[in-house]
Order: sequence, then C-alpha cells, then structure tokens
Amino acid sequence: MPATVIVGAQWGDEGKGKITDILAERASAVIRYQGGSNAGHTVVVNGNEFKLHLIPSGILHPDTTCIMAAGTIIDPICLRDEIEGLRERGVSCDNLRVSVNAHVIMPYHILLDGLQEEARGRSSIGTTRRGIGPTYTDKTARMPRSIRMADLMDDDVLRALIADQLEHKNIIIERCYGHEPLDPDAVFAEIAPALPVVRPFVADVRSMVREALANDETVLLEGAQGTFLDLDYGTYPYVTSSHPVAGGACLGTAIGPTEIDAVIAVVKAYTTRVGAGSFPTELEDEVGNGLRERGSEYGTTTGRPRRCGWLDGVALRTAAELNGATAIAVTKLDVLDGLDTVRIAVAYDINGKRHERMPEDLDALADAQPVYEELPGWQQSICEARTLADLPEQARAYIDRMEELAGCAVWGVSVGPSRDQTVLL
Ligand code: GDP
Ligand code: IMO
Ligand code: MG
Repeated sequence: MPATVIVGAQWGDEGKGKITDILAERASAVIRYQGGSNAGHTVVVNGNEFKLHLIPSGILHPDTTCIMAAGTIIDPICLRDEIEGLRERGVSCDNLRVSVNAHVIMPYHILLDGLQEEARGRSSIGTTRRGIGPTYTDKTARMPRSIRMADLMDDDVLRALIADQLEHKNIIIERCYGHEPLDPDAVFAEIAPALPVVRPFVADVRSMVREALANDETVLLEGAQGTFLDLDYGTYPYVTSSHPVAGGACLGTAIGPTEIDAVIAVVKAYTTRVGAGSFPTELEDEVGNGLRERGSEYGTTTGRPRRCGWLDGVALRTAAELNGATAIAVTKLDVLDGLDTVRIAVAYDINGKRHERMPEDLDALADAQPVYEELPGWQQSICEARTLADLPEQARAYIDRMEELAGCAVWGVSVGPSRDQTVLL
C-alpha cells in the first residue's frame, strides 16, 4: 500500500506541482484531496509550462490516473477551461476522473467570496476570490444541501437545486450585501455550456483508489495550499477553508492513516506568502524584492506579487511535525544563488521568550521576532547541478541545516523549474 502524501510545508506555492509531476512518472494514480481552483500548480516540461488549478499535477503522464477526490471542490467552468486548454496542447485528459461526491463551486459562491472580502474591509483575508470559503461553508452548513458533482448529471435536478440554493442565497446577497439577487435561470445558463465537457469525467473514484492500493500500486496524494493555510493549524483566520495538512489526505480521499507510508513535505529554500496574515521572516526591502524577481514570485492563480522572506526554520520544524513528514523536498534553491550570506530563522523571540515551534496561540505570532542564523552564500549558478557533488559546499551546508531543522531526510533538491533540474538524493 505505498500511498505517499505530497504536502506544502509553508504558505503554499512551494513547488508541489513540480515535485508531484516527477513522482507521478512511477505512480498509478495522483489524487488531489482538498481545495479547489484557488490552487495554481506549475509543471514545466521541455520548456513548456503548464499551470494547473484543479487537475492533479500527474496529468502529463497519460498512464497515471488523475483523480479529484471527494474532499476537493470543483468549479465546472474552470474545469472545462482547464481540460480544453490541455487538449489544445495535446494532453488528452482521458486519464482524469472527478468524484461524484466533490462539491461544486457555483457562480454565487464566487460572488459571495468577493462580497465577503469587501465587507471584511481592512481585515480582508486576500482570498483568491474563487468561491472557496462560501462553497466549503455550504457543504458543512447543509442548509439547503449543497450541490455535488453527481447533481450535474441531470439538467432538471440541477435546475431545481440552483433554485433551492438561491432562495436562501439571495436573501444574504440582497439584505446583507445590498447586491442584486441572482436569477436561477441565468446561473444555470452560465454553467450549462461546461456540463457536456465535464460530465464524462464524473466517476466513483473511491473504488478506483481501493483497487490501486489493493494491487500495491503507488498512489500519490497531492496537497494544495500549504500547512500554514490549514483551517485548523494555519494562521487563522488568514487561511483557506480546507485541510492541506497530511491528515487531510485521509479524509479527502477516504483512505486510512495506516495506508500512508510516506509524507514528502515540499519546502521552498526561502519563504513566500500571498494574501494577508502573519509572516515573521518577511523582508520588505531590497533582499525581499530580489527574491521576488529572481524567483518570479507572482501568484499562479491571481498574478499578485508574493510576499517574500528568509527561510523560517520554526515553521519548517513545526510543519514537519504537523504532517508527520518522512522527507522534505527542497525547491528553488537556485533563487539564493549570488547572495553573500543567507539567513534562516531558527527560533522566534516573543516578548523575551524563545520559541522553537510556532506558538499555538496565534495572536502571539504577530509579536514574533525571528532569531536568525547566518550562513555563507554561494556565488555560482546551481541550475545545472544534477548530483549533490555538483552543488557548492555552501549550498550543501544550507540543505544540511534544512534537514536538521525538519528532522527528516532530504528526498531531493530542485534547482530550476524544469522536470530535469532536480538533484535526487
Ligand atoms: P505550487 O503551488 O506549490 O505547485 O507552486 P507554484 O507552481 O505556484 O509556484 C512555484 C513556481 O516556481 C512555479 O512557477 C514553478 O515553475 C517554479 N519552480 C519550481 N521549482 C523551482 C526551482 O527549483 N527553481 C526555480 N527557479 N523555479 C522553480
Ligand atoms: P497552491 O496550491 C498560495 C491563500 C490566499 C489567501 C488564503 C485564503 O498554489 O499552493 P482562499 O481563496 O483559499 O479562500 O484564500 O489562502 N491561498 C494560497 N496561497 N498558494 C495557494 O495554492 C493558495 N490558495 C489559497 O492567497 O491568503
Ligand atoms: Mg501555487
């Protein structure tokens, strides 16, 4: 039962897409277990860049089944666009399956996401405005029951459910937010063109996952977002509405914890964050700007500039524990090329007290002052490195320190966006 979780160890955009694509070559299935089109996972093969929002990052391997499990939420219009975009580029998507039980992001969820963000004013979260919070809210509220992929199979069922939903939603849309009510027929008409494209992919995926595990095939569980965007363990309320942590993979995919035998935590060699919320090692200076430019740190989904800072070893240590990481995959080490020195936060000072792990009391995080360790940088480009021996000694020392902080082995080091720009250990 070799099920492996691939999880972001920071605030998202760690390079999960690239790592998943590499591992997918030997996997029989890649499964997205949570989140929706808020994700933006990039895979680069032979100079061709693919940006995936919903579809698992194994899709470029035609023999690997790609599954969107019940824990994900699906925007049918976005899924249609992604499937068609891939087909235009010669990727058939015949290996894609979407769970009948995944809940559906509807146009009114996207509207509500925007209205809620406006209403939050100065404390807005900076969501991706893809309808994530409102869709997961409807799923858990069950009032009225939210729409699932199975409900998209029949026009009449879908029309009736949209009318039910809007009876309630329109009260909120009109009375709370002063927005015009939505017309059920118009909402149906908006998503109707996507239905013929999406319907053939809807399937009972649980039995497919069971069969793969029973046959001892390698199954990858691809996380979206990152550990500190987790609804329970992230920097609440500046988080997403799902469970990116490795535990979320069991829930989202319906497999037991004993069936997971490896957890690879993907960690960027520095830190980035999009949207609001605490970020102790953030650099609002030339060094931070340099990381953003060299690392092309602009959101895959929203195009927003990502906030940048030094590696946060406190976050890394905490993430390794929260996810039960068995290994880390280090990404974007090449972005640190050319710096005289590099810094890693090894602890926080919070009101005079040293913390080696993220405090559980998240309000304290706002006062966290990073305690830095300074390491020598390296001057040469490492993007051609393919073995550990190709890396300069200073870069190897940096990786060793990351390994110590995480408390588990390094699986590999990524030195560029391409599939082949990887040092496998
Ligand atoms: P994800 O959401 O975790 O899959 O990460 P994103 O795709 O949003 O962001 C990672 C970005 O960094 C993408 O543009 C990747 O192509 C790129 N990338 C991944 N690994 C490396 C690397 O080792 N070096 C460099 N320079 N870029 C990388
Ligand atoms: P990948 O999978 C980085 C952030 C948003 C916002 C917060 C809540 O590419 O790593 P949401 O739309 O989910 O309600 O927004 O979470 N966020 C991400 N940041 N990478 C992501 O995905 C993200 N998905 C959501 O910026 O701060
Ligand atoms: Mg991303």
